[in-house]
Amino acid sequence: MSDIKDALQQGKYGNHPWRIIETSFDIETNFVDETIFALGNGYIGTRGRLEEGYRGSKSSGKHGTYINGFYESYPIHYGEKAYGYAKNNQVMVNVADATMLKISMEDETLDLLKGKLLEYERVLDMRAGILYRNYLWESPKGRRLKVEFKKVVSLVHKHLLAVDLKIIPLNFSGEICVTSVLEGLTDNVREENDPRVGSKLQKDALRTTETLTKNGFYGLIQQTENTDMKLVAAMNHDIKTSLHYTSKEKKTDTGISCSYSFKAKQGDTLYLTKYIAYHTTKDTREKQLISRARDMLDIGTEVGFSRLLEKQKKYLDIFWKDAFIEIKGDPLLQQGLNFNLFHLLQSVGKDGTTNIAAKGLTGQGYNGHYFWDTEIYIFPFFLYTQPQIAKELLKYRYSILDKARERAREMAHSKGALYPWRTIGGEECSAYYPAGTAQYHINADIIYALKKYMEATEDIEFFLSYGAEMLFETARIWVDVGIFNEKKQNQFCIHCVTGPDEYTAMVNNNFYTNVMAKTHLQYAYDMAKFLQEFHPQQYRAIAKKIDLDEKEVTDWGKAAASMYIPYDPDLGIYPQDDSFLEKKKWDFHNTPKENYPLLLHYHPLVIYRHQVLKQADTILALFLLGNQFKREDKVRNYQYYETITTHDSSLSHCIYSIIAAEIGYEEDAHSFFQQNVRMDLEDHHKNTHYGVHTANMGGTWMCIVHGFAGMRSYEGMLSFKPKLPKAWDSCSFSIIFKGCRLQVTIEKKKAYYQLLTGGELSFYHYDEAISLKEDNRIIERAL
Ligand code: BGC
Repeated sequence: MSDIKDALQQGKYGNHPWRIIETSFDIETNFVDETIFALGNGYIGTRGRLEEGYRGSKSSGKHGTYINGFYESYPIHYGEKAYGYAKNNQVMVNVADATMLKISMEDETLDLLKGKLLEYERVLDMRAGILYRNYLWESPKGRRLKVEFKKVVSLVHKHLLAVDLKIIPLNFSGEICVTSVLEGLTDNVREENDPRVGSKLQKDALRTTETLTKNGFYGLIQQTENTDMKLVAAMNHDIKTSLHYTSKEKKTDTGISCSYSFKAKQGDTLYLTKYIAYHTTKDTREKQLISRARDMLDIGTEVGFSRLLEKQKKYLDIFWKDAFIEIKGDPLLQQGLNFNLFHLLQSVGKDGTTNIAAKGLTGQGYNGHYFWDTEIYIFPFFLYTQPQIAKELLKYRYSILDKARERAREMAHSKGALYPWRTIGGEECSAYYPAGTAQYHINADIIYALKKYMEATEDIEFFLSYGAEMLFETARIWVDVGIFNEKKQNQFCIHCVTGPDEYTAMVNNNFYTNVMAKTHLQYAYDMAKFLQEFHPQQYRAIAKKIDLDEKEVTDWGKAAASMYIPYDPDLGIYPQDDSFLEKKKWDFHNTPKENYPLLLHYHPLVIYRHQVLKQADTILALFLLGNQFKREDKVRNYQYYETITTHDSSLSHCIYSIIAAEIGYEEDAHSFFQQNVRMDLEDHHKNTHYGVHTANMGGTWMCIVHGFAGMRSYEGMLSFKPKLPKAWDSCSFSIIFKGCRLQVTIEKKKAYYQLLTGGELSFYHYDEAISLKEDNRIIERAL
């Protein structure tokens, strides 16, 4: 407890690097806390609800359990519909919840909102991957109970979670009853006035079709109406006690409850472990749902709770060995950073058929959709620390390639594939196309990630089996959508698209889109030539499969070479698009604080008519394709755009921080970083209750590695330009590149590099070429 007390001296959740700590139960923050204390393993995610039940108001909490990729869909109703609009929304549904363990003693029910809470602590231990809650509660009639909950969502057994409960009656003897609930009727988040939430799912979005109770196995089969997905949620119990107890099970209208009544004497300890399993028809045959769940629960019971924790710790030891970034000199920041990386691991799909949602598996914000957030903000963390997960993320995109082809046809592209702006199952789900489908840059973003993956892993097998087909199919769209524009000296122009900044829509020649498309097309051209020369047989097979001819390849090269890049010679900057600089600037001075985010207070047209940004756009391109631009360009563009960016999107601060670090604006870099690293822990956007911001979490990692350490990888060459923020004493991390693991440590005046594994690695430290061998040597460079 003493390190907990120290940690709590700062920050709402303390400043312990590995623990998120709460020492009082606060109804005001419960909704947010449910997100903060959510657990997950990339397949199952469950919010940090109070297991014993919570009788607060609806607006002060919403428990939720989600399965990655398990969704319901329903038609989007447009007031005025047009051809090609996204037809259906897809929503990650709140599935049957099995984490509940109600507690009563004699004639009283444990309720944290009643009686007295004499001691309380809730801790998310990110090194052990466990959530625990210990408290001492006195009932209104004066009965005192010591209660300990431990919850774990297994990172080793992806279908399994477990809740462990320990109760001690401190000043009374009598009956204590624990009622374990499997609740089928779960509520979905509905919020009509915030487009960032916006689901219309009803409470009964899932139908329970079967209730199973047999020999201590309890299960519900649930089914979606429109997507025809089925799942089983099942539980069993392991009770290790010498106390006499009786049990009673009950099928309720909405689920199953199973009560265990113990005859306890003062000071006795009562233990109960509940194992919970989920399987869905996404990855299990319908006929096998029940047997698989039963097997999983048997494995859980056999392994036992403490071994489950050991396995969890082992898994996380390996994860943290590669992922950990140590920052000396700022404990709050260290905590925020660990929290972000931990949540990324908890959220990411690792099976090649699921991805990572904007809110992970922690809430229903953005309906559980996957966006470009994955490739541009989250992918780098996985690529350079857990490349096998990065590969699975790309495989997910391959798994929906056919749907992207279908979407391209709907959008009148006779060939190629257009990825959906937002989706779960692969179909386009954006109901507001100007800030959705119009973001054609999604194709280039995915290919940008593929290119980085290839540079960092040289995984040619992957490229031949999956990458090439995605690359060529998506490249086709640019040639179809753009034109060689006579009015612009036959340069290749891309019209009527929306760039990353959603406060400007449907423009011609969005700078970001054009430079990313140029890179995409050039890569498609180069790789087609490479395959023709070095893998001709495979090339022929792919070309045959997608009916690709040589003229198309030539056209990619031509379009890339003649891509129009908007430039304003007077200001010396890249205009965000053709008309951007002609608009008036937003009147920031007279915009009251409470009118942010602007999207909740002004009609889109009002916003679109102004020079005002929701998030990094041109600046993002200058980072991603940084080797194509000079420092002076970056300085001028940064100065211009920084003053007109609201950062209303959580995807913004990190990019400004990275560019600020690169151009030497150290204070800006650090200050943007600080606004990003604890964004959810401090609820900066006031919507953490709907889930964490996974893109921003990935952005935190990027700020350190790409920002302060200045790491870049261009055309397979790795480089560093480190500079430590003044407030820190040192910063140290490792990255995996071309099968090598490199340790990088930055101090105020020096940088150190050591090749931990992998033979030999060449890279640049500023302009100096360095080649390191795996020989325990640490090289030191002055900064
Ligand atoms: C941003 C998008 C992002 C989405 C999901 C929006 O606010 O403008 O760029 O993809 O959030 O995170």
